[in-house]
Amino acid sequence: MAVYNQSGPNRLPGETQVTRSASALDRGLERLRLAAIILLVAAVALVALVAYDAVAVTHALVVFLCLLGATLIPWRLQDAEQAKGEAAGGAAVETAVVRALVEGMPDPAVLLDRAGRVLHFNSAAGQLAPALRKNELAQFALRSPEIITALRGAIATNEPRRTTYLDHVPVDRWMELIVMPIAVPSAFGGSESYLLMTFHDQTPLRRVEEMRADFVANASHELRTPLAALSGFIETLQGPAREDTRARERFLAIMQAQATRMARLIDDLLSLSRVELSAHVRPDTLIDIVPIIREVVDGLEPLARDRQVEIEVTLPTTAVTIAGDREELLRVFENLIENALKYGASGGRVMVSLVIVAGVDGASEVRVAVRDFGPGIAPEHLPRLTERFYRVDVGDSRSQGGTGLGLSLVKHIVNRHRGRLLIESVLKKGATFTACFPQPKPPAAA
Ligand SMILES: Nc1ncnc2c1ncn2[C@@H]1O[C@H](COP(=O)(O)OP(=O)(O)O)[C@@H](O)[C@H]1O
Ligand SMILES: [Mg+2]
Repeated sequence: MAVYNQSGPNRLPGETQVTRSASALDRGLERLRLAAIILLVAAVALVALVAYDAVAVTHALVVFLCLLGATLIPWRLQDAEQAKGEAAGGAAVETAVVRALVEGMPDPAVLLDRAGRVLHFNSAAGQLAPALRKNELAQFALRSPEIITALRGAIATNEPRRTTYLDHVPVDRWMELIVMPIAVPSAFGGSESYLLMTFHDQTPLRRVEEMRADFVANASHELRTPLAALSGFIETLQGPAREDTRARERFLAIMQAQATRMARLIDDLLSLSRVELSAHVRPDTLIDIVPIIREVVDGLEPLARDRQVEIEVTLPTTAVTIAGDREELLRVFENLIENALKYGASGGRVMVSLVIVAGVDGASEVRVAVRDFGPGIAPEHLPRLTERFYRVDVGDSRSQGGTGLGLSLVKHIVNRHRGRLLIESVLKKGATFTACFPQPKPPAAA
């Protein structure tokens, strides 16, 4: 009830909202209260007239009841007058608070009257549609057919409308528009309709969606190739090569290689998603990184012999501890050294080294560099090497059993360790991949 006391010409939508839910009885009492003085004066006058015998008591009672009834009728006359005023200048919503609210909205926002005339708009909306003017129809400034359709729909039905459209100026952006009718209760139970248009930039979301679709397409394509080879060989073995023992042996060997490739791809995909899921959790176990590198080098010795590459290892004799995940670090060095052995084999040697570089603020960084003397990588490929499935030469990578996911995995693991991956290369001179990890500060006493 107290709410009505505040409701003058400058009342706010939120303030009068309460009265909308008030019962009819409450509204009747409220009208009586507003008309109390008129009723009182009328009652005094009628009592006086009755006292002077000017009117009969029954007549006076009838007149009073008529007056009482009239106060209880929810007259709309005043509302209509007010609405006319509001349509012209939006008096009811022309308050500083409403203006500040619209201006304070982070996304472009435009407040319209029920005819679609602009009452307020914020600076973000001004940038989006420079032709917007107060008291003019919004349709003149917003020319995109999707916007006009949504706006007309909302005006006609008084229901929310949502649409997306491509905005070209100043750059291509996917925008979502929501037109939301808002009802502002007016005195005597009526309500006025306004429209709030808000625009939301959906471009980053769309980009993520596109990336995900690309990723699924790439992964399916990578899996389909070995799968097609497998199906082909199974058919051949069931048909023409059924009795050919030598062909069977050969085909089975190829099938095994294809199956291994699929298994590897799935392993890499799973590792990648595991690392991505834990990307925000920094490993907290302190481990010595030197034996991890040694273990990887030992494991890759057969591959190095096969490719006739010599691995030169320069590691400190003392322990070098970092906060890290052993399994993940194994994968990092495995990928980097294996790449150097596979793609840089022509250089004949690969150097693996570890140095500790002191930083400015006392923090130091552990840098593990893997250097090869092979063909190197052209500069235009460098920024994209860590993208999933990106390969300089797809055929070369596939023939070496590659999946194109190795460096992407390396980057994710290094990031999770709060480190960084540096890639340097000079064509024909080889490439150097350096994984850098922050070294925890040693305890002061030690
Ligand atoms: N040491 C290197 N020398 C030359 N090219 C490299 C080297 N390391 C990686 N590359 C290129 O980067 C691509 C991506 O590497 P990676 O993500 O490990 O995928 P994969 O080894 O499965 O193909 C490789 O296909 C290769 O073209
Ligand atoms: Mg690789």
